[in-house]
Amino acid sequence: MLKQVAKLVADCLAFAAVTPALLGYFSLCLLFGSQRTFPGWSQAFSLIPGTLGAYLRRAFYRVVLARCAPGSWISFGAIFSHPTAAVGRHVYVGALCCLGDVTLEDDVLLGSHVSIMNGSAQHGIDRLDVPIREQPGVWPRVTIGTDTWIGDRAVVMADVGAHCVIGAGSVVTKPIPDYAIAVGVPAKVVRYRRGAPIEVQLDEPALNQLEPQPTV
Ligand SMILES: CC(C)(COP(=O)(O)OP(=O)(O)OC[C@H]1O[C@@H](n2cnc3c(N)ncnc32)[C@H](O)[C@@H]1OP(=O)(O)O)[C@@H](O)C(=O)NCCC(=O)NCCS
Repeated sequence: MLKQVAKLVADCLAFAAVTPALLGYFSLCLLFGSQRTFPGWSQAFSLIPGTLGAYLRRAFYRVVLARCAPGSWISFGAIFSHPTAAVGRHVYVGALCCLGDVTLEDDVLLGSHVSIMNGSAQHGIDRLDVPIREQPGVWPRVTIGTDTWIGDRAVVMADVGAHCVIGAGSVVTKPIPDYAIAVGVPAKVVRYRRGAPIEVQLDEPALNQLEPQPTV
């Protein structure tokens, strides 16, 4: 109880401390729009170290992001690129993560250096007479389901279901179903948390579509 009160007081103090920054941020949003203003502020807040930084970031993001729930923890160096990102309750974002237009549902854990991007086709690549930077792409929103743990240095380009585990260094290129443990490049389901192990065949493209096995 005492700990909760202390955290609440710390949250209030952090909110008071970031109020001038919030005024500055919203003033610049009026001039330049939130999409252009937001990244620089996210980068600046990411550089405040330690617990102080985590409290100040949370206070800032609770006002600025689409959602940043109480009890979330955003570590040093973690950067959001869109103010439309949503962070659920008790989410942990590790150091130096790069997050796009994402939804992190409640209890998601991200290790360090995790990148979650909006799909894999931010630029068109079909034409050869136009530079890639000028070819339009698509930016689908990516959702990480509740209670999912993503290991260090994973790169995520598609939705990940609830209660999943993504191995360290994995690259998620296709949606991962609920309860799956997926590892590797590209990430393949090696088993389900609620079921029997499944045989991994790395060159089997439909492996990610397997349904969880019933618990015996
Ligand atoms: C995925 C993980 C949780 C292990 O899950 P698990 O179901 O217990 O998996 P196992 O250890 O039984 O390994 C299953 C297979 O996947 C392989 N594997 C496990 N983790 C892997 C990874 N990150 N990348 C590639 N392959 C991996 C194993 O070598 C094993 O292969 P094999 O059957 O050919 O021997 C763990 O390896 C991992 O990556 N944890 C993340 C740690 C981390 O990033 N911590 C940061 C702090 S939050």
